[in-house]
Amino acid sequence: MAFFSSATKTIPVVAEIPKHIAVIMDGNGRWARKRFLPRVAGHARGAEMIRDLVKSCSDMKVEYLTLFAFSSENWRRPEEEVSFLMGLFMRALKREVISMNENNVKLMVIGDRSRFDASLIKQIEDSEQMTENNTGLILTIAANYGGRWDVLQAVNKMQLAEPQLAGTFQEEHLTSYLSMNYAPEPDLFIRTGGESRISNFLLWQLAYTELYFTDTLWPDFNEAALNLAIQSYQKRERRFGRTSEQLSGVIADTAT
Ligand code: IPE
Ligand code: IPE
Ligand code: MG
Repeated sequence: MAFFSSATKTIPVVAEIPKHIAVIMDGNGRWARKRFLPRVAGHARGAEMIRDLVKSCSDMKVEYLTLFAFSSENWRRPEEEVSFLMGLFMRALKREVISMNENNVKLMVIGDRSRFDASLIKQIEDSEQMTENNTGLILTIAANYGGRWDVLQAVNKMQLAEPQLAGTFQEEHLTSYLSMNYAPEPDLFIRTGGESRISNFLLWQLAYTELYFTDTLWPDFNEAALNLAIQSYQKRERRFGRTSEQLSGVIADTAT
């Protein structure tokens, strides 16, 4: 497995399509309420939007797409909503494997699976296995995921695996134990639904990600909306601590 060092050491070319896009798909409930529908109707519609997004990202050669589907805090929601979301996840996994294979998409699921039903755990494993040889877009679904959980589980694994390094661990050690150790850090983070917060998503990896917040509710987030986000990204100057002059080559880099 290739481990990625911090993206902050090399500067990606923003004019290119972001390699890794991470999305908080928020606003399903409000989308439904606006239509006098139950919240879960928003979730059902939201899940359908994923197929088009995956296709668009695949077509434009995004390499990694990471979607926040259920946070470690979402268990606090009413029981009926949680159980609808679990059922929806199960059905979507079953249904979408075919189109993922058609589009050469490899599925990865991150998060603490231990709280899921055995049947859902099995479906996750099967879906990952059925797409594991695909070489196109890597689609990661974050389910029962929390950024703090991820860092903690990484620290615990690291200490057990390499106790002799205690006290001298480097960033690269920790990142190799994070659940997304197979991917570079996101270039572009998108949050739909109007809130300007991270909500315990990829805390470690978002350190230098370009953030994009939009009022568009997730079930309305179509290809045009995605293009707006990418256009916004392409206008940014990613400095990672350097000055603008250093980036334009007028002054050279001192330390890395
Ligand atoms: C995001 O939409 C989906 C999940 C968190 C599972 P919400 O359900 O949070 O929608 P709003 O924020 O209530 O509109
Ligand atoms: C974040 O959305 C989690 C997902 C989209 C899965 P929430 O709607 O749960 O976030 P908060 O609670 O408003 O921050
Ligand atoms: Mg929400």
